[in-house]
Amino acid sequence: MIILGIETSCDETAASVVDNGTAIFSSVVSSQVDVHSRYGGVVPELASREHMGTIVTVVREAIRQSGIGQERLDAIAVTLGPGLVGCLLVGFSFAKAYAFGLGIPWTGVNHLEGHIHSVFLGPDPPPFPFISLLASGGHTGIYLVTSHTGMELLGQTRDDAAGEAFDKVAKMLGLGYPGGSIIGNLAEKGDPGKIDFPRPYLDKSGFDFSFSGIKTSVSRFIRTHSAEYKEMTPDIAAGFQEAVVDVLSYKLLLAAKAKRCKHVSIVGGVAANKRLREKIIKDAGPTGIKVHMPSHALCGDNAAMIAAAGYYLLINGGPQDLSLDVFSRAK
Ligand code: KG4
Ligand code: ZN
Repeated sequence: MIILGIETSCDETAASVVDNGTAIFSSVVSSQVDVHSRYGGVVPELASREHMGTIVTVVREAIRQSGIGQERLDAIAVTLGPGLVGCLLVGFSFAKAYAFGLGIPWTGVNHLEGHIHSVFLGPDPPPFPFISLLASGGHTGIYLVTSHTGMELLGQTRDDAAGEAFDKVAKMLGLGYPGGSIIGNLAEKGDPGKIDFPRPYLDKSGFDFSFSGIKTSVSRFIRTHSAEYKEMTPDIAAGFQEAVVDVLSYKLLLAAKAKRCKHVSIVGGVAANKRLREKIIKDAGPTGIKVHMPSHALCGDNAAMIAAAGYYLLINGGPQDLSLDVFSRAK
């Protein structure tokens, strides 16, 4: 079944053609970073206008690159939420109208279930059940995944998402937006042991996270070292990153042990972080737990993951009716 995926939940306009939820024929992602960077974050109204101007070109390009004609599409899958409603509506309205025009079924996909499916698009998909750590700019949670449509949230952040903490710390250090990859690169030049930022494990046996405290510690450090902190930026980045990575790795493996899962995955924008990838593999080594990760390109927002999740919804539940609507918050 050849599915066209469409994703417009935040600041990336994306379209992708995927066969049977696993083989990527094309994946086009048009980023709006240049539009939002001078504001230091995503401006919702600008984001939806950008999607409107880009969606047709991005979908056309995805179909062109796939090497198949639009008449060979079997269905369309589109993100319903969570995300910015004005942005979601652009992809959603386009997808419904296009599916109606082509006379093919469509399905709405939860963005978070999309991220969890990114790991099935690589050469090494995990067997069920497995534990998935989803860490992005809007969400950080741990899921028990029992099937393509069965996901149970075991714990999540009580305040900032992990990616949001990276973005805010980058802003404090004057490094620009989006901050995750900038901090990741800078941290390679720093010493992670130089500044000891706190590890917020909360309840050590629970799966919830809290990242606002680390962010406050970085802010306090900058204030109390105002004369010299600029030269210490790589050490601050490395120390902050290490604290976040330690907690993410600890909680993921804790959940795997608690649920007796031998397989885990990391997905979402933060899963592109090099240190996180290394640390989880290292920590998992002695436990016998196997770590599965999507390629870098599939960690951030993309439409291939939406097409993959949509495939399993379509084969299990059939096409969805035209009365469905978008939603802004996770449900
Ligand atoms: O999944 P994603 O593209 O969008 C959301 O659904 O939120 O995630 C974006 C987030 C941003 O906060 C970004 O700073 C973070 O992922 N990110 C990273 C890295 N690359 C992107 N965080 C840490 N290290 C990275 N290399
Ligand atoms: Zn995302």
